[in-house]
Amino acid sequence: MTNIDYQDRIPNNVDLGANRTLQRALEQWQPAFLRWWNELGPTDFQASDVYLRTAISVDTKGWAHYDYVRMPDYRWGIFLAEPDANRTIGFGDDMGKPVWQQVPGEHRSTLRRLIVTQGDTEPASVEQQRQLGHSAPSLYDLRNLFQVNVEEGRHLWAMVYLLHAYFGRDGREEAEALLQRHSGAADNPRILSTFNEPISDWLSFFMFTFFTDRDGKFQLKSFAESSFDPLARTCRFMLTEEAHHMFVGDTGISRVTRRTLEVMDELGTDDPLAIRNAGAIDLPTIQRYLNFWFSSSLDLFGADTSSNAAAYFANGLKGRPDEKRYVDHVERETIYDLEVPDGKGGARIERIPLRNAMNEFVRVSYVEDCEKGLARWNRLIDAAGHGFRFRLPSVRFRRTVGSWANVPTDPDGTPIAQSAYDAQLASWLPGAADRAFITSLMHGVFEPGKMAGWIAPPEKGIKDRPVDYEYVRLA
Ligand SMILES: [Fe+2]
Ligand SMILES: [Fe+2]
Repeated sequence: MTNIDYQDRIPNNVDLGANRTLQRALEQWQPAFLRWWNELGPTDFQASDVYLRTAISVDTKGWAHYDYVRMPDYRWGIFLAEPDANRTIGFGDDMGKPVWQQVPGEHRSTLRRLIVTQGDTEPASVEQQRQLGHSAPSLYDLRNLFQVNVEEGRHLWAMVYLLHAYFGRDGREEAEALLQRHSGAADNPRILSTFNEPISDWLSFFMFTFFTDRDGKFQLKSFAESSFDPLARTCRFMLTEEAHHMFVGDTGISRVTRRTLEVMDELGTDDPLAIRNAGAIDLPTIQRYLNFWFSSSLDLFGADTSSNAAAYFANGLKGRPDEKRYVDHVERETIYDLEVPDGKGGARIERIPLRNAMNEFVRVSYVEDCEKGLARWNRLIDAAGHGFRFRLPSVRFRRTVGSWANVPTDPDGTPIAQSAYDAQLASWLPGAADRAFITSLMHGVFEPGKMAGWIAPPEKGIKDRPVDYEYVRLA
């Protein structure tokens, strides 16, 4: 393994120094990236010292270095998981053949598009979250926000490395365009719609890191199976960092719930208004935020029947998360029973090739993964002696992509009249009053160990530091 100097301009384990052309190209992109970071990354706080982890190797023990760093001085490096010289294609029509170290000509534009679409989400989320620092509920949370932000920046670097190293001139142009599209911009928005939704409060941030970063996990796991080995190795390492982002969402929602339960206990009521007046977030409001972000994130998996998805699988470009779990890695004849609207207010089964249903197949395992988080939060509510339970809405609810797109259903997935849907939607999703209330709670708490009143402290700090550690030294 190459020795990595994490103080290098671009720390890496791809022996960048041996490829001058590539190194120069990336060094030219770097100032544009830093300009983007300064203009569209976190507002203010750039001069504060943040207790951050920086990836310095891909060694499972000790891959990260923890220290105070100013965000603009964070080292956005390029790290690929260790190569496996014997790796063969693990699924699709070319199963068993050697993986590709270069991009096959016939898959070039498809792979480029897949990498660009993944890459586009990384800076998008930083842009979406840029205002949140000011209203952080604690220094611990502020640090976690910035950790997520710098790592999403590193994930952009990971994709830009692939574009520069393997896609020549068009790759370099795409890398520039990744800094030109902006979240929510009217003329040049980010590619996927969820990444154009503003995240202006911390409840949304926790929902985003739980539900939307989890979509990211499933996409990365699918790419970690790719026959294009550099992509597989890049994504494998990104998953290491991604786990913390979902931890932030999962524990964030747990802590909000715990605080609400405390207030319910103190007041002896579950009346939403009383809970709000006491400065905590009532459980039904949390449920409405959950409905919004879950349904929005489901669309990211793409249409439930997709010839593109079938081709990605057949050609070995994009597999299923943890492909080894399955018995059949070719799935040439397998049929999938897909539930589609019957046009008469109900559903019917359409039998389609599993390859065409790959998006849906992966979406189903995503939903199962989400359920685990809900079960944890519900155990807290149960233990506190309350009957309320968080529920994932049906995958049919509020979809804008696939067979159920624009089919009005209630959160249980029962098709209903458009007028009934329109009349009730405001009670299923955060409304203006909910947003105004949540916004009213958002005030920065910047004293070490102190927490905003709507969230419980974490169970432990970062890297064995105490919860009241000064995770951010404000400039
Ligand atoms: Fe990411
Ligand atoms: Fe992430």
